[in-house]
This record gives sequence, structure tokens and C-alpha cells, in this order.
Amino acid sequence: MHKLEPDHIILPKLHPSMYLMHKYWARKPHNIVAAYIKKYSSEGEIVLDPFCGSGVTIAESLILGRKAIGIDVNPFSIFLTKNTIIHVDVELLELIFDLLKEKVESYNNFYEVKCPYCHDLAEISHIIWKGDIAKVDFGSGVQTEVNISLVNVKVGEYVLVHVGYALQVIDKEAAEETLQLWEELLNNS
Ligand SMILES: C[S@@+](CC[C@H](N)C(=O)[O-])C[C@H]1O[C@@H](n2cnc3c(N)ncnc32)[C@H](O)[C@@H]1O
Repeated sequence: MHKLEPDHIILPKLHPSMYLMHKYWARKPHNIVAAYIKKYSSEGEIVLDPFCGSGVTIAESLILGRKAIGIDVNPFSIFLTKNTIIHVDVELLELIFDLLKEKVESYNNFYEVKCPYCHDLAEISHIIWKGDIAKVDFGSGVQTEVNISLVNVKVGEYVLVHVGYALQVIDKEAAEETLQLWEELLNNS
């Protein structure tokens, strides 16, 4: 069995535009994925990614002359992967883009806001939903805001938190045991 390590450190590059058509959490850096594909497969071989996410491994495999099979439990992942690797007729795309642009141009001002500080006009590019936010105490005085829209939780209960979301309400005993473990780990590090 090969040891899954490259021979040297590879620094991740920023995602090029082909991977930025839609956000997908945990998208992997294309240059590192490509280095692994080159190291562990040859041209013409098949690369299988059973957790293909936004499709970086699939697209890099095709770019490097491999065949690729992608699987994911999330149907949006399959949609995004397919649309990342699909052949595009650029002229037709530009034509359709111009038609659409003309139709939606009048909505552009919906995204204009006045900066409260400099009073210049600015464009809204991202909106962050701030509803269903609760303060969670992680012990040792560490508190942070967490989104609780996925759980039905009351003040005083314990939750399992991942990437800013409370995912599950957990019982007091299990929670206190985990907090105790964290404290021991922190004190011994
Ligand atoms: C970190 S992403 C994968 C990144 C991807 N390999 C790449 O090259 O960018 C993890 C993916 O695993 C998928 N996943 C999680 N559990 C799964 C399962 N049981 N079967 C298939 N896909 C799963 C998720 O939907 C998510 O898209």
C-alpha cells in the first residue's frame, strides 16, 4: 500500500474561476488534488471520488487525462460537478448571457446600498442571515454566537456545535464529560 503523502510540501493555491461558480463548503485546493492524482495514477486510468463534493477531484482528473467517476449523497454536488466539467459553447453562452443581462438590468438597483460611513453607493454581494442566533458557552469563559435553526433547544441545554451551527441537543452528562475532557487536554498541552 502506498503511503498517501506527496514528496514535498505543496502550498494551496486560490480556487480558479471554474471552481467559483457556486459556493461549496470544504472545496479542496485544485493544485494539491492534482499533485495527488499525478502521483497515484497514470493517464487513461480511472479516478473514483465517492465523496465528490463540488467536483474538484473529478475536474482535475479529466484535465490530467484520466477518466473519472464521482459519487455524492448530495444531489446538488452532482449538479455542480456536472456543470463544472460540461462542455460549454462560449459563443452561445455569451449570447444567452447578453439576453438575460438585458432582462435583469432593471433589477440592479435592488442591490445598491448607500454606505453609512462614506455615503458612496455600494453593491450588495453577500447577505448574512443573522436570525436564530444564540450565545453558546464552551467552558473556560469561551463564548461565541452559534446558529440554532437546526435544533429545538432551550436556554441551559447543551448542544453539539460544528462550523457555527448547533447540530444536536446532547444530554447534560455527555456534555459535561466532553467539556471535562477538553479541559484536561488543554491543561496538558
Ligand atoms: C469534503 S467534500 C468532498 C470534496 C471533494 N472530494 C473534492 O475533490 O473537492 C465531502 C462530500 O462528501 C459527501 N458525503 C458525505 N457523506 C456521504 C456518503 N455517505 N455518501 C456519499 N457522499 C457523502 C458530502 O455531501 C460532501 O459533498
